[in-house]
This record gives sequence, C-alpha cells and structure tokens, in this order.
Amino acid sequence: MSKTFKIAALAGDGIGPEVMHEAIKVLRAVEKKFSLSFQITEAPVGWAGIDAAGKALPDATLALCKESDAILFGSVGLPDRDPTIPKEERPERAALLRIRKEFGLFANLRPVKLPKALAHACPLRPERQGDGIDILVVRELTGGIYFGQPKKTENYSIDETQADEGATIFIKRAQRAIDTMVYTTPEIERIAHVAFKAAALRRNKVTSIDKANVLENGVLWREVVTKVARQYPHVALEHMFVDNAAMQLMLRPTQFDVMLCENMFGDILSDEAAALAGSLGMLPSASLGLTSGVHTFGFFEPAGGTAPDIAGKNLANPIAQILSTALMLRYSFDLEATADAIEAAVGKAIAQGLRTGDIFTPAETNAKQVGTREMGDAIAAAL
Ligand code: IPM
Ligand code: MG
Repeated sequence: MSKTFKIAALAGDGIGPEVMHEAIKVLRAVEKKFSLSFQITEAPVGWAGIDAAGKALPDATLALCKESDAILFGSVGLPDRDPTIPKEERPERAALLRIRKEFGLFANLRPVKLPKALAHACPLRPERQGDGIDILVVRELTGGIYFGQPKKTENYSIDETQADEGATIFIKRAQRAIDTMVYTTPEIERIAHVAFKAAALRRNKVTSIDKANVLENGVLWREVVTKVARQYPHVALEHMFVDNAAMQLMLRPTQFDVMLCENMFGDILSDEAAALAGSLGMLPSASLGLTSGVHTFGFFEPAGGTAPDIAGKNLANPIAQILSTALMLRYSFDLEATADAIEAAVGKAIAQGLRTGDIFTPAETNAKQVGTREMGDAIAAAL
C-alpha cells in the first residue's frame, strides 16, 4: 500500500454534516476498491466550532488542517444565528475567508457541468443548452474587494455649506461603509496562468471577465491577462464585461470554456452558472495554492451554502460534496483515475434515475426521488 493521505474533514453547519457523511462513505468505498489509505480526521468549524470551542476556527482545527494533506470542507454560516456576535467573528469571515488567506488558496476552480440526463433541471430551454454546458469558472480567491484594506464602517458627518454665509453647519451624523478593491500585477498573473493552463487541457478558450469600462482594477486586469495570454498561443482569449457575461450565461452558455474572474465577480457568476447545471447542490470546488511537487495542498468544498431550511432532513444533495472529494483526489493527491471513477459513479447514480429533491421533477417518469443517504449509498455502490 502506498502513502496514507491525511484529510481534515470539517463538516461545519447546516447540511454540512449530512453531505460530509456521504462523502466519507464514498471515500471509504474508494479506499477498498483502489487499495488506498485515507486518514480522515473530523473537526468542528463554523458555528459548530463556536459551540465546541468558542471560535469559528478553533485552534485545534487549524492545527489539524496544517498537518493534513488536504481539507475537505462542508459549509459554514447560519445567517439567522446570533446577530450580536461581531461580524469579524462570524464563520464566513473567521473560518472560511481566514482559511483561504492563511493557506494562500488563491485559485478557486468551479467546474459547472450539466449532464445530459439532467437537462430538465436546467432553467434554460433545450435549444439554449446546445450539446451540453461545460464551463470551468476560475475565480481569484484571496484578493480583490473581499480582502482589500481599508475595510470598515465608520461614523461620518455630512456637512452642508450655506453658500451665502460661507459657514459650515453639521446637519447629520451618518455612517459610511468602505470596501477596497485592490489587485496587484502578480496576483492577476498567477490566476491567469491557472486559467490558461486549465483551458489548454479543455477546449482552449479563456473568457476573462472584468469591468474595465468603469474600474481601474478592470483596466489592469485586462492588461495583465492579455500579456500572460502571449505565453499560451494555442489558447484563445476573449475579454468580456461582467454585466454582459451575466447575460451571455443565460443566452448562450455553450460559448464558454474557462471563465477567468476576480474574486467577487467569480462568486456571483459561479452561482449563476451552477443554476444552469441544474442545482447549486451539484457544484464542487477546489481552492489551491502554489504547487510544490506533485501534491498540492488544497481545500475542497461544495460551492453551495449551509441550506439551513433543509438541514437535518435527509433532503440535501450530497453530490457537490462527493464531487469535491474527486477534485481532492485529482488536484491534491494526483489520483486522476480514482477521481474519474468517483465522477463516473455520480454519473451512474444519475443515469439510474436517482434524484434528490433539488434535481427531481415528476415529469421525468423513470426518475426516483431519494434522500441524502440513499444518494450517497448509490454512488458508493456504483464504484
Ligand atoms: C462562496 C461563498 C463564500 C464567498 C461566502 C460564504 C463567504 O459564497 O464560496 O462562493 O463569498 O466566497
Ligand atoms: Mg458564493
């Protein structure tokens, strides 16, 4: 038996624990089938971390991540819980954004694929789906408006000058919120390289998204991406304004191969793209740092959220979490064939007609609505 891969499994909140349970089930089946060895250690994060150790990212959880080969993450954040806790301590910032920054996970890959069998779950008319939707969103994850400084809310006095007398009187005390969008050339370069390399393994096209007609950031983004493109002569580069990209995704999603986005645009467009693939419950993601050697430390999570409304009811779709384990095997452990096998097993379960509620429609006569656990069982069995 070869190397034992150490996996930190952080299920988090909402549907996190249920979908993580199914992902671990699939990993255990993979171990048997492919004679691999995974050392999976679970630890609390998010509200579960706050409940267990008073912090969204408990020290022990962070320490576990540091000694692991990869992090398999569920989801964190429950918008309705305790509005009094400071926003810096809430799970989204204190756990998720902190881990991204702490481990330098600047490259977020979100593959959006609409399987033929799920054409009905796509909100677009069949003629707009062409031969199928297959897009890779490459999202910059540690820069831009998410992290730029200053970032704060402060008191602010609105003053009004009375023209006649030249006197300034304070008429109102208000607040103002400041977020800063900032990108440096190296930050844009490194994510552009990720996008071009990915496109070279796909259909050789990068659509770079920006708002160069308004934002300084957009102008620099476009310049730097254009320069990097010269190193990839076989990959076609196209630039698109973000508003147009949002529209084009609805009108003609098949024109896209790799969409290269800064942090916030990628956040928004990847949700939009995921809806095309039937459901946010189908969208896995990989967050990677700089590669050193064959094994890249990475963070793997479903792109959807905690879905508190359906948590604990055996209703959640575990596929995004299971496909995230496939990405972990592919990108962090260099187990391409095993990753393919997990993806094929997901495809089989779908081809068998199994559907969680989010991808089920009664119009599909040979489909069967199943719960989270049954879907996980079927995928593990299909291996
Ligand atoms: C995502 C999520 C996060 C983000 C939230 C939960 C902070 O929406 O991973 O897309 O905005 O990055
Ligand atoms: Mg998002």
